[in-house]
This record gives sequence, structure tokens and C-alpha cells, in this order.
Amino acid sequence: MTPSSSLPIPFVDLSWQHRPLQAKILAVVEATLAQGDYVLGQAVTEFEAAFAQACQTAHGVGVGCGTDAIALGLRACGICAGDEVILPANTFIATLIGVVRAGATPVFVDCCPHTALIDLVAAECAITRKTRAILPVHLYGQMVSPTALLDLAKRYDLIIFEDAAQAHLAEREGYRAGSVGLAAAYSFYPSKNLGALGDSGMLVTREELVAQTVRSLRNYGATRKYFHTDPGGTNSRLDTVQAGILNLKLPHLLGWNQDRNRLAAHYDQSLADLATKGIQPIQNVSGEGHVYHLYVVKVTNDCPIDRTRLQLELNSLDIQTGIHYPTPCHLQPAFQSLGHRAGDFPHAEALSQEILSLPMYPGLTFTQVDRVVSAIKSILTAAESSTATSPVAPSSLSPSSC
Ligand SMILES: Cc1ncc(COP(=O)(O)O)c(C=O)c1O
Repeated sequence: MTPSSSLPIPFVDLSWQHRPLQAKILAVVEATLAQGDYVLGQAVTEFEAAFAQACQTAHGVGVGCGTDAIALGLRACGICAGDEVILPANTFIATLIGVVRAGATPVFVDCCPHTALIDLVAAECAITRKTRAILPVHLYGQMVSPTALLDLAKRYDLIIFEDAAQAHLAEREGYRAGSVGLAAAYSFYPSKNLGALGDSGMLVTREELVAQTVRSLRNYGATRKYFHTDPGGTNSRLDTVQAGILNLKLPHLLGWNQDRNRLAAHYDQSLADLATKGIQPIQNVSGEGHVYHLYVVKVTNDCPIDRTRLQLELNSLDIQTGIHYPTPCHLQPAFQSLGHRAGDFPHAEALSQEILSLPMYPGLTFTQVDRVVSAIKSILTAAESSTATSPVAPSSLSPSSC
């Protein structure tokens, strides 16, 4: 065994990204110290413009995190108490928290079992007279179909608000994430495709008024210093240091996304012969427009080993994996009051039991991907042979067990 073949494979490793940029990152910190514009400084204005342009939209407003971008963004789009907002049941809890913090009523719908993206037929069935917006989540880095979304929104006069927290510069049908709806929320949590060195986020929008409103909401509801017009204001501003670091990283983002794409294609190819053994990658229906924030497979019932055991065995071989997410939003204890039960959204629930996210980040090598895949193959082969050789338990033959 070569040394590299025995090194642990982390789920995410950001050192490959930060090491070559370290001198420039330190220079950003020094520049901020010299200028003293610690919050909403010059680098924030520059990054807001650059990121909005990268998203092919007009305005960017830097905020403290992606969750705030959703909560403040929805409010700026005019969503308020009594409005229903449609969202997928299988998303990170922040999507739901953003809707609730905006004062709206969340209405969950199920997802497509192959892509894990919101099922727009189910969404259409959930529309009522109170529905004001649909909140598609571009989950794992893949966009929900823009043309289908725009068609639905047009027919029912709905606002589209995109959760693009996992989909920096994703594309589908000629649209970029963030340019489809009235507005969109991004997160720059460190492990995102574009990540800061701490929490931060951005609201992007094509509407000047929406941008202006979020600028006020993020700054205590002030329209000018010490003059507060919106009681819903809060403190959620982007730090100059974080914006300076994001400015440094932005020119690399397309290349990093391409690396993710190549790694995903290599996983797809190498895992292809495991389809009959119950390992199925989440389907990519957007080609290279998928930015693979996560590479997720389903461990189905056809697999000789269950998801938990596979994850444990990979872990024992020093291969880290994740589950995004083990409990769908409608079954989270914090939101019991919404009145949902197991069985309400069967595809989301089934996925939560089956999905496994494999290591994925631009510094990952094809050799490491090969190691992950061969580890899965040998775990499955061992499980198959132990099933084949294990004696049949007498109790399972006994008529009394029927
Ligand atoms: C789908 C989704 N929405 C929203 C968020 C919230 O972003 P943040 O963690 O920056 O608040 C995240 C972040 O993890 C996310 O994955």
C-alpha cells in the first residue's frame, strides 16, 4: 500500500483551496485593518456587484448568512403573515426557518425520487388562493427546471424565490441559479462551492426595490443612519474581511465547479456496475450545469447492506460520508405544530433513509474517488457472500413465525 492509499479521505477538505490563497487572504485582513471599514466596507460593495453579475442578475445584497437572505429576502418580496409559500419537504432546515421567520405559512410538497428536486406537479396541486410564492431549492447543486418553474409561476401568478445556497453558478436550460425568480438566496458557509471563512450570505435580485428593502432590513431597518423606517429590521451585515476573501475566490469558482463535475462523472462511471446492487446516484438532468455541491447516492433495498452499515464500514476504512438530510423538514420536532405525520411525503421520507453523500470537493483526486468506489465494492461483495453463506435462521422457516 502506498502512503496516500492509506490516508483518511475526509468528506470535505478546504486546505487545498486555502493553502495557495493564504498570502492573499492575509493581505485582505491587513487591508481591512488599515482601512478600518470592518462592516459593509468597500470589498462588500465590490463583491455584491461581482456576484450579482456572475449570477446574471442585477443586484446583490450581502447579509450575515443564507438563512437571513431567505427570511429578509422573502419579506422584501412582499411575503407576509397569511401568505403560503411552497417548498420541498427534503431540504436543509434553513429553508423552512427562513419562510417561518418571514411570517409566512410553509406548505411542503414531495420531491422527485430520482433527482431529489421539488416535484412541480405536486407543487401545482398544493396551490391555494393564499399561495404567494414557490421556493425551489436547487438541491445538491442542481437547479429545478427554470422553464417549468416560470410556466407554473405565470399560470398562478406566483413569486419565484430560489434557494440557491447549494448551487453557486449552476445552470439549466440557459438560466443561471439566481436569475430565474424575483430573488434568490445564497450562502457562503465555508464548505459551500464558494465559501467565506465564517458565516455569510447574499440576496440577489433583478428588482432594485427588493435590493433596497433588504439593504435596510439588514441594517436595523434604517434608510439612513439612525433613521429607522422598518420595524422588522435586524443586524445581518456582511463583514468586509469575508467579502474581501470571497472576492479573491470568485474568479476560481467556475474552475472549481468544473473540477466537481469531472469528479462526479468519474464517480458515475465507476459506480455504474453497482446499479444492479442497489447503489444509484441521484440523477443529473442538467449535464455540466450541475455544480455538485454534494455527490449523493441512494442505497436502495436491492443493496446487500443497509445505508447505516455501509456508512459505518466506510468510516472504519477512513472514508467519511454524510447524510443530507436524515430527517425531512415536516418530521422535525421543532415544527410539529405544522401537523405533519410520517407518510405525508413518501419520496422525501424514503430518500432520507437511503441517501449517502460521498466525499466531494475540488481538491479530491480521481485516485481517491477510485478508493471510495473500490471500498464500496468490497463492502458489498463481503455482505453478499456473508448473506449467501449464513445459515437460514430456523425461526424464519417456522410456521409459527407467520
Ligand atoms: C439549502 C440551504 N438553504 C439555506 C441554507 C442556509 O445558509 P446559512 O447556513 O448560510 O444560513 C443552507 C446552508 O447550509 C442550505 O444548504
